[in-house]
Amino acid sequence: MNGYLKVENSPKLHGDMSLIGAKNAVLVIMASLILTDGKSTLKNVPCSDDVMQMINLLRELGAEVSFDQDEHVLLVDTTFIRKYQVKKEIMKRMRASILVMGPLLVRFKKADIALPGGCVIGARPINFHLKNLRKLGATIQIEGEYLFAKVEKLIPQRIVLEYPSVGATENVLMAALGAKGITTIINAALEPEVLDLIRVLQKMDAAIQIEGPATIIVEGGKVLKPVEYEVMHDRLEAGSLIVATAVTGGSITLSQAPAFMMDVFLMKLQEMGHNIEIGSDGIGVSLKATRYPKAVSFKTAPYPGFPTDLQAPMMVAQCLASGRAVIDEAVFENRLLHVQELQKMGAQIKVDGNRATVTGVDQLYGAPVIATDIRAGCALLIAGLCAKGITTLSGVHHLSRGYESIQTKLSKMGASIEYVESAVFDRHEKDCTKEYY
Ligand code: UD1
Repeated sequence: MNGYLKVENSPKLHGDMSLIGAKNAVLVIMASLILTDGKSTLKNVPCSDDVMQMINLLRELGAEVSFDQDEHVLLVDTTFIRKYQVKKEIMKRMRASILVMGPLLVRFKKADIALPGGCVIGARPINFHLKNLRKLGATIQIEGEYLFAKVEKLIPQRIVLEYPSVGATENVLMAALGAKGITTIINAALEPEVLDLIRVLQKMDAAIQIEGPATIIVEGGKVLKPVEYEVMHDRLEAGSLIVATAVTGGSITLSQAPAFMMDVFLMKLQEMGHNIEIGSDGIGVSLKATRYPKAVSFKTAPYPGFPTDLQAPMMVAQCLASGRAVIDEAVFENRLLHVQELQKMGAQIKVDGNRATVTGVDQLYGAPVIATDIRAGCALLIAGLCAKGITTLSGVHHLSRGYESIQTKLSKMGASIEYVESAVFDRHEKDCTKEYY
């Protein structure tokens, strides 16, 4: 996608919108199908670029995959998976590809894969994955850009994660299913998407329990069967649509939104002065925006804290709120790359390490800006909606990695967003691709 989005100042957005399936759940669920032999059906699968890449990866291994993009139904037959090697070109396109390592070790006792994509700006380490897969018995060698893992027999263990990494929890959990006996994962990530993976694995017949405060207990060694499963709705798409609506002063209803998984985010919007209503069973959110939003400070944290994936969109809302907001990005290093783009649009933001201090201004102004990752792209799109004049957003391929068609949804609610084909490929954009996902 070499084009850009032309975003005009938006009237108040209004609408009842549906949500796609959660990207962060579906990618790992697709990887988990390697643990089974046979035909599985996944429903509510978003048609995003990362999903397409995961389809390529599964096909590369030998799976037969068909995707009905209109119905969002993915059929995966893993019967003929014969390979445990994944080419560098496929691994590099998507960091979530590392999530096949645990399942491949269970199925083949081997996984030869390239290291997942990195970035000139900074590495996304996989040390927690490797350390704990080794603890389960794997021998892992890294040679250049390749990683060769093998295991004679996976051994159940008491695994203690030093940080509740989402990906490491998922990889170790899936590998533990191949270790006959009880593996305990302490300080596990319990993000809703991890819980969705656990529900799928349980449907496959895996014996997994969650115990407080953040412990996953896995009884490995069972034969897992193919499944039919409907992926959870995307709380991050929900949050993005809600912030977009809030900054335009509009109103939105998302009757499928998993509100009970969005508590801190919704509380912060309420503190800004927005009217939020939640469905009685915790499903469904409506927002009616205040005309006089107040700035609120927040700090990202593992679930159930404020989600790092909504930090960039929520920062845009602070740019036009009255007062000062202090935003601490405490999950990822260097995830404030959208700040310099927002500054181009007139935002008053000072950065000190991983802290951004935002002082509200009366107006943002349209400017040419570049998306450097999925959520930064979404934030800049939202900023374009509430900026005076025209914003041109390049790096659009980041958006389509994580969202099926958020610009189409926003347009249905009243926004004016146009995709413009362009042969010019911004070198900066190419060089500064950040592999957040
Ligand atoms: C997942 C999500 C991503 C979300 C993130 C945090 C998917 C596909 N992506 O990413 O959208 O922003 O959770 O909620 O589900 N870390 C290490 N070593 C490791 C692994 C992680 O140091 O081996 C660090 C990371 O650099 C980061 C922090 O731990 O600073 C959290 O990362 P992690 O929870 O693993 O995020 P991902 O699984 O990569």
